[in-house]
Amino acid sequence: MRLPVFSSKFTANAVLVVLINLSTIHARTATSEADEAQITDPVEECTAYYYAPVTDALDGFPTIWQPASILSNDTEALNTWSNISQSVPTNIYPHGDIYGDWNDTSYNVAEDPDCWWTKSLCTIPKLSTLPADVASIPEPETMGYGFDDGPNCSHNAFYNYLLEQNQKATMFFIGSNVLDWPYEAMRAIDEGHEICAHTWSHHYMTGFSSEDAFAELYYTIKLVLGITPTCWRPPFGDIDDRIRAIAEGLGLQTIIWQYDSFDWEEQSGNITAAQVFTNYDNFIARAENGTFSTEGSIMLTHELNNFTMQTALTYYPKLKDAFKYLVPVGVALNKTQPYVETNYSLPTFDQYISGTTTTTASSSSNTTSSSTTSKSSSDGLALVRTMDYTLFALTFGILMLAA
Ligand SMILES: *[C@@H]1O[C@H](CO)[C@@H](O)[C@H](O)[C@H]1NC(C)=O
Ligand SMILES: *[C@@H]1O[C@H](CO)[C@@H](O)[C@H](O)[C@H]1NC(C)=O
Ligand SMILES: *[C@@H]1O[C@H](CO)[C@@H](O)[C@H](O)[C@H]1NC(C)=O
Ligand SMILES: *[C@@H]1O[C@H](CO)[C@@H](O)[C@H](O)[C@H]1NC(C)=O
Ligand SMILES: *[C@@H]1O[C@H](CO)[C@@H](O)[C@H](O)[C@H]1NC(C)=O
Ligand SMILES: *[C@@H]1O[C@H](CO)[C@@H](O)[C@H](O)[C@H]1NC(C)=O
Ligand SMILES: *[C@@H]1O[C@H](CO)[C@@H](O)[C@H](O)[C@H]1NC(C)=O
Ligand SMILES: *[C@@H]1O[C@H](CO)[C@@H](O)[C@H](O)[C@H]1NC(C)=O
Ligand SMILES: *[C@@H]1O[C@H](CO)[C@@H](O)[C@H](O)[C@H]1NC(C)=O
Ligand SMILES: *[C@@H]1O[C@H](CO)[C@@H](O)[C@H](O)[C@H]1NC(C)=O
Ligand SMILES: [Zn+2]
Repeated sequence: MRLPVFSSKFTANAVLVVLINLSTIHARTATSEADEAQITDPVEECTAYYYAPVTDALDGFPTIWQPASILSNDTEALNTWSNISQSVPTNIYPHGDIYGDWNDTSYNVAEDPDCWWTKSLCTIPKLSTLPADVASIPEPETMGYGFDDGPNCSHNAFYNYLLEQNQKATMFFIGSNVLDWPYEAMRAIDEGHEICAHTWSHHYMTGFSSEDAFAELYYTIKLVLGITPTCWRPPFGDIDDRIRAIAEGLGLQTIIWQYDSFDWEEQSGNITAAQVFTNYDNFIARAENGTFSTEGSIMLTHELNNFTMQTALTYYPKLKDAFKYLVPVGVALNKTQPYVETNYSLPTFDQYISGTTTTTASSSSNTTSSSTTSKSSSDGLALVRTMDYTLFALTFGILMLAA
């Protein structure tokens, strides 16, 4: 089915009527975290559903998948920004645009005055007040295990596997994905994965004005998960000292990587599956030849699509064999309080490797709604479906705008 392109999220309601009348689809829609978690068909997993706390709050957020700005009536955000902005350098300008078009050819890469990773792989800021990025893992023979770009709607096979292995990872979640797929996000935190931010809309951060870059980091995932992350990863690794200062102001530790599987590029056809497997194989060969004997490492991998998740599963046993330990990045750093809120904790590295992979009891986020699937009364089902199409229209209308 081809959907019309909406001019804004506010026209989506008009289209809703059309969608309902056209509706011959009887796709099952999830009604709770536990319900979503047990779906096995990827298409059903990715059927949009209605989750009231998100729908009710959308007005208080930037448009999902669009570059963020502070909402003009959001005084809390404006106050936080005015506080943080005082420590953000004003002599570092946006590089090119937010789509990664760096026409600023005058940048002196050799001197690299801004510690612009994209150009130089710099991870030790030139601005002495800023901490270095986390690019490697202090524990020898240890991999900082993590995935970018989630939550993906069809991640159940992947998360089921991690659960079976009692393996936790660091999940770098995109704010817009969390609002699209809140039950999937809840599953991640309930199963003990560490959650870090990966911006609101996944654009190149050094292209944003400082205030908009702040908004990309400020509006993240607290609405759905009740937590405020203390770590983040810049999309495409695109960071410089200006962006680092904004992240630092928000209490976000920057996590980067040393090796890239390039799994994310397979979808675009820019790289073959075989090349991605070679990248994994080379990383494993390094683990086996002693490259990480004094310091562990991080490889960039993704919870992005079936290929990236399936490749992660295929390679999991090989990584387990090659490395002594696979742990979330925060665990490798003994970061036992991963969020601003103090009611969650992570195990220490020693606890984790001796088998205590989680230290926080499951949250109550998946007990709030009861199951109303195809077995429910027709009235209840109609309501769920109507709301679902609203969210569907909102989500896909906006996605198409972004495309
Ligand atoms: C800002 O305005 C929007 C739309 O009018 C409203 O839904 C939202 O609650 C407001 N936010 C704040 C923080 O007042
Ligand atoms: C402003 O920044 C200071 C220093 O970073 C911090 O201690 C304070 O809590 C901040 N205030 C607000 C309102 O964010
Ligand atoms: C560089 O890109 C910016 C943002 O897209 C644009 O405003 C500017 O005109 C471009 N400059 C050149 C020299 O192409
Ligand atoms: C922790 O507290 C937040 C609110 O501050 C709440 O949303 C969340 O569900 C709590 N989680 C747990 C595991 O108690
Ligand atoms: C694919 O590679 C080409 C040439 O290097 C580049 O211009 C393009 O942006 C890449 N596409 C993606 C999706 O990375
Ligand atoms: C390990 O293998 C990598 C990749 O083949 C190579 O670059 C590196 O020099 C090797 N290191 C050692 C210690 O042999
Ligand atoms: C999630 O993965 C599915 C299955 O590969 C894919 O169809 C979908 O586009 C992905 N979602 C996003 C937002 O990338
Ligand atoms: C990839 O897709 C296939 C076919 O739908 C499915 O059987 C498999 O479980 C998926 N893998 C992952 C990791 O999602
Ligand atoms: C984590 O704690 C263990 C046990 O105290 C210690 O050996 C290790 O050096 C710590 N790692 C870091 C990065 O602080
Ligand atoms: C919450 O979700 C987790 C993971 O899906 C599951 O293991 C747990 O049993 C659920 N808890 C409740 C109370 O439904
Ligand atoms: Zn990403």
